[in-house]
Amino acid sequence: MTIYLRLLSYVKPYLPRLVIAIICIIVAASANLYIPWIIKDVIDDVLTTKNMAMLNMISVGIVLVFFVRGIFFYGQTYLMSFIGQKVIIDIREAVYRHLQKLSLSYFDKRQTGTIMSYVTNDVAALQNALIESVVELVTEGMILIGSLGAMFYIHWKLSLLTLTTLPLVALTINVFGKKLRKAGKVMQERTADITSVLQETISSVRVIKSFAREDYEIERFNRENYFNFRAQMKTAQLMATLTPTIEFLAALGVTVIIWYGGREVIAGNLTSGSLIAFLIYVVNISNPIKRLSKVYGNIQRALAAAERVFSVLDTQPEIKDLPDAKELPPVNGQVVFDNVTFEYKPGETALKEVSMVAEPGQMVAIVGPSGAGKTTFASLLPRFYDPVSGRIALDGIDIKTVTLRSLREQIGIVPQETILFNGTIYDNILYGDLAATEEQVTAAAQAANAHNFIVAMPEGYQTHIGERGCKLSGGQRQRISIARAILKNPRVLILDEATSALDTESEKLVQDALDKLMLGRTSFVIAHRLSTIQRADRIIVMDKGRIVETGSHEELIHAGGLYEKLYQIQFSEQAG
Ligand SMILES: Nc1ncnc2c1ncn2[C@@H]1O[C@H](COP(=O)(O)OP(=O)(O)OP(=O)(O)O)[C@@H](O)[C@H]1O
Ligand SMILES: [Mg+2]
Repeated sequence: MTIYLRLLSYVKPYLPRLVIAIICIIVAASANLYIPWIIKDVIDDVLTTKNMAMLNMISVGIVLVFFVRGIFFYGQTYLMSFIGQKVIIDIREAVYRHLQKLSLSYFDKRQTGTIMSYVTNDVAALQNALIESVVELVTEGMILIGSLGAMFYIHWKLSLLTLTTLPLVALTINVFGKKLRKAGKVMQERTADITSVLQETISSVRVIKSFAREDYEIERFNRENYFNFRAQMKTAQLMATLTPTIEFLAALGVTVIIWYGGREVIAGNLTSGSLIAFLIYVVNISNPIKRLSKVYGNIQRALAAAERVFSVLDTQPEIKDLPDAKELPPVNGQVVFDNVTFEYKPGETALKEVSMVAEPGQMVAIVGPSGAGKTTFASLLPRFYDPVSGRIALDGIDIKTVTLRSLREQIGIVPQETILFNGTIYDNILYGDLAATEEQVTAAAQAANAHNFIVAMPEGYQTHIGERGCKLSGGQRQRISIARAILKNPRVLILDEATSALDTESEKLVQDALDKLMLGRTSFVIAHRLSTIQRADRIIVMDKGRIVETGSHEELIHAGGLYEKLYQIQFSEQAG
């Protein structure tokens, strides 16, 4: 019920339209109620008494009624679609807006396909509930009430007798409704699972092919597909049982009417026309009951979808601005980590009591074995995650006390995995500063040593690079990513393995680009290849989430610690 009320709150802005729509539905539905009455009049007043004038009147009446019905039917369909689509757009926008606000940890925990299914499948299920169900509910409800009224008017005893079957029907619907709701939930989840597998496998098609795991993936997909089939069939089976059950109960009712009503006509207490009209009204009410049970199923399914959609909206971002968050003023770039401890999952420490200071303009290198926590360290500065304890400050201001936007605007990141958007090269660079001019974009590309390869392409800056930049080489992608960071012009820079994907030739180009980028900014350079960071002002050596050594290359090379060991390994590899 609360879910339904919440859905209705989205309808509120369109209330005037909804009122008009419902009036249209009521008028259109009333026309249906008129049909049995016409038949009664034709039998009793025209055929029995051979009344020609009455026949003419009835004929004109029919034409008029159906003309008016057509107009209102148009209004009903148009307005209801309008309201339904508007509400869906509003909800979809709200969900997407909220997704953008959610923290990285939310996305870490969930599969992309599942999240996508919230915005597509579930929102679409709501659309069904809102448009179709409301129309059916009002139309059928109207026909139900109108028909019942007419029945009681014709013969109240016969009506009461007929209605004794109703509680049975209501009970059946209730029992099935509960099952349908459960089955609907499973069905949506299974559909989401398929989307999930699809999304994952299509985006990793290279890996699948390189491991020749097509058959494995097909089997995995088939399994999900089959689970989905089973879930769909479960619902279908319920629906297939529900309909005939209700119809059978209705048939029982009709038998009773013919038996008792026939006796009344024979006894002269009821006209033949009235009995026939009565029967049609009974068929009229069995139809709405059938339809309403279907609508009930739809609504149950939609409520399950709404529950998931609202669960997204109700998830609070873990990282958000404090109520009194201030704008971070333009900084010089002093970065302080003070006893910072962080864990992705409670109990699994990824960073332990990390303390360090980087002065404005310094280049700080972070090295250490894979999984040491280097990327994690760098993720805390732009507040992708918040530390469990300890404090991080930029120019002496605790980063927790400023707005995320003003903080992230001053931090540039060239990530470990280059991620570009489907679009042109120009747009991808422009992403760094949407207000930049064409000259600034070109200058950034030049500084990133990307300009030359870009203009060598047939379409230059307007080249479409494909999904995630798949039409470019790794080195080209990385240089565009650097150009984007240059354009952003941040005070603090994080380079996570920015040269890892490159050969020696393009590494020199990229390194050169990075050197220009780092000039005058505080930069954190994460690197496996120690040759690239020897001239860093300070090298931080990490292992298992801790800082185990700090110092310059010259200091660490003979310190007998982890750095010396790593250096020796790489040195002998190069020599070899
Ligand atoms: N999103 C995440 N959720 C849970 N655990 C994570 C997540 N990201 C990293 N970890 C864990 O945190 C630890 C540190 O990972 P991190 O990515 O910081 O290592 P790294 O030093 O950057 O390694 P590499 O050199 O391979 O990039 C690892 O044990 C990893 O399993
Ligand atoms: Mg890393």
